[in-house]
Amino acid sequence: MANIVIVGTQWGDEGKGKIVDLLAEYSDYVVRFQGGNNAGHTMVVNGEQFISHLVPSGIIQGKTCVIGNGMVVDPEVLITEIDYLADKGVDVSSQRLKISEKAHVIMPYHKALDHAREAANCKKQIGTTGRGIGPCYEDKAARRGIRFVDLLDSGFEDNVRAVAEEKNFYLTRFYECEPIDVEDMITRFRAYRDRLAPYVSDISVIIDEVLRADKRVLFEGAQGTHLDIDHGTYPYVTSSNTVSGNACCGSGVGPRKIDKVTGIVKAYTTRVGKGPFPTELFDDTGNFIQEKGAEFGATTGRRRRCGWIDTVMLRNAARLNSLTGFAVTKLDVLGEMEELKICTGYQYRGKQVYHFPTSLNVLAECEPVYETLPGWSQDLSGVRSYADLPENTRSYLKRIEDLTETPIEIISVGPGRNQTIMLNNPFQ
Ligand code: GDP
Ligand code: IMO
Ligand code: MG
Repeated sequence: MANIVIVGTQWGDEGKGKIVDLLAEYSDYVVRFQGGNNAGHTMVVNGEQFISHLVPSGIIQGKTCVIGNGMVVDPEVLITEIDYLADKGVDVSSQRLKISEKAHVIMPYHKALDHAREAANCKKQIGTTGRGIGPCYEDKAARRGIRFVDLLDSGFEDNVRAVAEEKNFYLTRFYECEPIDVEDMITRFRAYRDRLAPYVSDISVIIDEVLRADKRVLFEGAQGTHLDIDHGTYPYVTSSNTVSGNACCGSGVGPRKIDKVTGIVKAYTTRVGKGPFPTELFDDTGNFIQEKGAEFGATTGRRRRCGWIDTVMLRNAARLNSLTGFAVTKLDVLGEMEELKICTGYQYRGKQVYHFPTSLNVLAECEPVYETLPGWSQDLSGVRSYADLPENTRSYLKRIEDLTETPIEIISVGPGRNQTIMLNNPFQ
């Protein structure tokens, strides 16, 4: 019996959606604890693809899914997603989906400010997803955010009018953009409120009851460890804590309830948006991985930057999240390559660096130190047991385990739920 947290170890898009969907079979509840519709999680079940941005990836397995208080939610996007899933025959009734009354609401002015800032900062763009994530978390910290409980409150309209006045001042006077039409926004939000009200509840109380009944909970992270607001490549990060510790804050449970933490690792590294990336490839190998791995963002459609696997990052992720194991994804993409490289450390001004540097200036000067391993030519997508993996593939995985001191528990060889080798189920 265990409650587990699943987090990304790199810069997002590691295949969390696939692994959460897979492991949701063994859990009763799936709770997402941070981020918003900057996330794009893809699941493929019996050849059918599902993409979710807000609804936890356990919904396809028919589990009760919870949008935690640590999330920021665009109601329009959530309603569209509920309709999309319902059209595909997924149960997204208020029995199956719960929204924390403390989750913050992304308002139109958050999106407008996200776009205006990126446009104004052409030299120092973060490359955000433009979904209003940063401005919404800013308002949360500044104590002028709108939570779902406030959306349902009779004082909502006056509250929003006051905040919107200030936002429109920034939008028009500082950024020289169009203002938000406040009354139109309020009319639309009345409709969203009516539609979403049945889903809103005190999720900390619900999860507590679930845990007391000895049911199992899977806490689903979005983004990745190196996009964490504290521990990532700041300022090229998202605006929430993506590490496992936030599973507690972002869902209203204490740390004693967490038993295991699984880190999702793509068999190589990708990044979408700006920011440092020591093992990035700018050559044919990078293009090969990008094309074979179909590395385009599920949220913005942007081409993902690709590079070799970096065990400096993975050791960082193992420590920051207290990882109990890894799930390695997209191993099939690395087939047909003569040799593969694993970054074991960095070289900085003649010295070896084993810990991920905080200073971006230091990071920019770090040269990756690589170990080269022989590749394999077999197609792995049909392999279902560890013993059937080519010897060179097993050596590659073993080297990652040794360099990170973290066991690999799950190996994914294709997007489908069944294209998986389960070595050690974290729920058992
Ligand atoms: P997430 O944001 O971490 O959930 O990851 P995304 O869904 O954004 O990106 C991962 C992509 O890789 C999706 O298109 C998945 O369907 C796909 N995928 C996941 N695991 C595998 C795998 O083992 N092999 C291949 N080829 N594709 C995979
Ligand atoms: P999933 O959950 C990859 C990146 C953006 C940008 C930075 C800040 O699918 O792994 P934001 O809109 O959050 O303010 O953008 O973070 N980013 C992601 N990159 N996967 C994600 O989510 C991401 N969510 C945000 O590209 O660089
Ligand atoms: Mg994604």
